[in-house]
Amino acid sequence: MADSFHIAIDGPVAAGKGTISRLVADRLGYLYVDTGAMYRVVALLGLRNEVPLENEAKLVELLQKTEIDMRNPNEGEKDGRLTTVLINGEDVSWAIRTEQVSKGASIVAAHPEVRRVLVEKQQIIARQKDVVMEGRDITYRVLPDAQMKIYLTAGDTVRAKRRHVQLLTKGTDISFEEVYTQLLQRDQQDMSRSTDPLKIVPDAWLIDTSDLSIEQVVEVIVGKVRVVRGQV
Ligand code: DC
Repeated sequence: MADSFHIAIDGPVAAGKGTISRLVADRLGYLYVDTGAMYRVVALLGLRNEVPLENEAKLVELLQKTEIDMRNPNEGEKDGRLTTVLINGEDVSWAIRTEQVSKGASIVAAHPEVRRVLVEKQQIIARQKDVVMEGRDITYRVLPDAQMKIYLTAGDTVRAKRRHVQLLTKGTDISFEEVYTQLLQRDQQDMSRSTDPLKIVPDAWLIDTSDLSIEQVVEVIVGKVRVVRGQV
């Protein structure tokens, strides 16, 4: 690992992990890795191939036959996405963001073998690189030796409001109540699964973003990294 620096960020749905991680990574010149996108890819593969999302063995088979590439959006792709995701060369960056895929991702993420395969891919991506990696098990499973561990959260209503605005902006017609219920359901699923549930590890820095702007959160994280790395 030489002197590469790993920032591991976990937290529930719509805590701001994606936006904040991307901005922190850009400010520091690190690689941003959205691990949720990989669970979303598995759900998309299942849905497209009519494989029931409960069928773990078949999903793993599909996953192993699929080439997944994740990279920074290039000039022609700056359409609000935080990352570009390709499966076998096809751009699925938006196809993995539907509500159906969101629900599906939470189901497939409960399969231990799916997790094992994806965790290995994530560890390979982070090897010898400075990264900001976000998800649900990054602080204790994927990057247990990360130099900085953060648990990013916000109140339930704040998160549901943020998610609702995001969906309305994308043209999805959905009520606030529906968004709120689905968000709590996904959190419940992510926190109660038996393999690697979302949890706060004792050495994580807990940041509640309810009353903070994105810029404020980015600023405190970047500031702390510079102190830890002796760059101030
Ligand atoms: O962060 P997200 O909403 O894109 O994640 C999609 C789903 O994948 C979510 O239900 C939680 C799950 N997930 C996980 O179990 N472990 C990760 N490291 C990342 C996401």
